Amino acid sequence: MSSISILGIYVADLVFFGKKIPIEGETILGNNFVIGPGGKGSNQAVAAAKAGVKTYFISKIGDDQFGEMATKIYDEAKVDYSNVIISREHSTGAAAIMVNEESGANAINVFPGAAADITNADIDKAENIIKDSKIFLTQLEAPKETVLYAIKKAHSLGVKTVLNPAPAAEIDKSVFPFIDYFTPNETEASFYVGHAVNSNDDASRAASKLLDMGIKNVIITLGEKGAYFANANETFSSPIANLSNPVVDTTGAGDAFNAGFAVALTENKSIKDAISFASATAGLSTTKIGTANSMPNRDEIDKIL
Ligand code: RIB
Repeated sequence: MSSISILGIYVADLVFFGKKIPIEGETILGNNFVIGPGGKGSNQAVAAAKAGVKTYFISKIGDDQFGEMATKIYDEAKVDYSNVIISREHSTGAAAIMVNEESGANAINVFPGAAADITNADIDKAENIIKDSKIFLTQLEAPKETVLYAIKKAHSLGVKTVLNPAPAAEIDKSVFPFIDYFTPNETEASFYVGHAVNSNDDASRAASKLLDMGIKNVIITLGEKGAYFANANETFSSPIANLSNPVVDTTGAGDAFNAGFAVALTENKSIKDAISFASATAGLSTTKIGTANSMPNRDEIDKIL
């Protein structure tokens, strides 16, 4: 009962660093290139396990070299991947990530590959681990129908659900009452409420709309402006963590945030403390290059809190 189950995709991240992110039609000469394990759900699973909570990952990968990178990092981080199906019919997906090495900002095109074939039947097979978990966390990179099916199943099993709506996509509003925590960033929040979300005031307006849609708790991440929380009883803003190292790559920071938040809820921390824990996890991840490979361990998180 003190574990987390996470549904999502794993892909290999092909990361290109340069002075800027190229615009449409433009070619630039890059300064660095790395390949590493990625995919939002997988990054979240690695981050949650490294932060010290038993974590189950539910996904599908191919029987290939990219897939081997996944099992290697799960072994290192101690992610339980008994519900990661190795498909012989599909190849593991990949993401092309462009990073601006001056600001750490990124742009991503992700092709889910084998993970696009995760089905409701795969969720049924994972029912026991979902039932045993305190938190069920997912995003919108896996097939939407299966994500929504899994959220409803977790809710019916009495498990608290967290939906990180990334990337933002239309979702059937009937699922909103089954979501305990909804964690968009500024861009995603703006997609759901139809207005820009740049400031705390915008976030407050957006959160009210999302609560009206039936979601119980809304956490909007605002990059360097921190995070904004709202539910029926309270609202507050939370600052970013104090870091002693510079930001080099923000890719995966949202994943680190969601994982840290789920870990803290599993440990019964208050919402305020859970958001601080999440911000510390996210902040630390930006001080290293990569996504799954940049996730901090528990000692590092505890040290900056
Ligand atoms: O959130 C970052 C992740 O988004 C990357 O690892 C990439 O694979 C995409 O899924």
